[in-house]
Amino acid sequence: MTTPVLTFFNNKGGVGKTSLVYHLSWMFATQGLRVLAVDLDPQANLTAAFLDEDRLADLWADGAGTSTIFRSVKPLLDVGDFEPVDYQTIDPRLVLIPGDLALSGFEDELSSTWTGALSDKNKTRPFRILTAFWRSAQESADRFGADLIVFDVGPNLGAINRAALLASNHVVVPLGADLFSLQGLRNLGPTLRDWQTGWTRRRDDWAEPDFTLPSGDMHPVGYIAMRHGVRLTRPVKAYTRWLDQIPSEFRRSVLAQDAADAPAIEQDPYCLALLKNYNSLMPLAQEARKPIFVLRPADGAIGAHANAVSKAYEDFKGLASDIAGRIDLATASTHT
Ligand SMILES: Nc1ncnc2c1ncn2[C@@H]1O[C@H](COP(=O)(O)OP(=O)(O)O)[C@@H](O)[C@H]1O
Ligand SMILES: [Mg+2]
Repeated sequence: MTTPVLTFFNNKGGVGKTSLVYHLSWMFATQGLRVLAVDLDPQANLTAAFLDEDRLADLWADGAGTSTIFRSVKPLLDVGDFEPVDYQTIDPRLVLIPGDLALSGFEDELSSTWTGALSDKNKTRPFRILTAFWRSAQESADRFGADLIVFDVGPNLGAINRAALLASNHVVVPLGADLFSLQGLRNLGPTLRDWQTGWTRRRDDWAEPDFTLPSGDMHPVGYIAMRHGVRLTRPVKAYTRWLDQIPSEFRRSVLAQDAADAPAIEQDPYCLALLKNYNSLMPLAQEARKPIFVLRPADGAIGAHANAVSKAYEDFKGLASDIAGRIDLATASTHT
């Protein structure tokens, strides 16, 4: 049995991917799911959100064992296979495979394996390398008994992200409401389809290995439009102009569908949320190393903040339930 993988993906940085993975992982766990979060961004921002500096220093220290995703897949740079990760427990229902700055050292291997392996006769090794993230994450998910694996990835269309995406069943696209995000969609959609057909071709052409391969679905669940990029100095009109174009651009570029009668964003079933700007709750939460929706007065969430905290709880609860429903995961609505 394999555990479903949900990936938050956009080739632009600063659109709130890591914040979403962090908050939704917590919310899925709160709703009763067992969640494995995996930090596949060499910048390791998700890892830094979950763990304090002492814990980070320990797991990034020399000789710390198989403490990160890179250390897990590193034997593949030589003649070995992945080693099981010593994942970090965040909560009884939430664990993390930590990221690693050194992960970028795997990019070249993934890149040359993808292209070079088409002419290679021994296909088992290329399959091992290209599916290393997926197999390592699945092994951890099995040990933990996870219902869901969530991937956070860096903002690019490189070989690490290709390996992450071919390991993904479901993809959510976080978007800023600006020109860059619309342009980004025009690259992202065709790239996803290219990776999907490239993976299917390799699976069809190469002999089936004696281990399970990911299906490479990369099914687009929908998008989340961010409002936090909206600066007060920027006219609201410019913001709504970009927002208005998202439903048709998402259909054209990501779904490869006719976009002629795309609905307004508020009515678009692919719009999972228009996410609020949580302003100063975000830095408070980062400081407290907690999701914004569980901040307390002792964390600085006083006065109007306290109200914003309970609203944020409802926002993320709704979003997590919606996504879980769309990807066929039953959540027990146990709010602990
Ligand atoms: N909904 C939000 N409201 C306010 N600030 C946000 C929100 N989402 C993200 N941010 C802030 O925006 C910055 C970029 O977010 P991040 O999640 O790191 O984006 P990415 O992973 O796409 O680069 C961070 O400083 C984060 O705290
Ligand atoms: Mg990030």
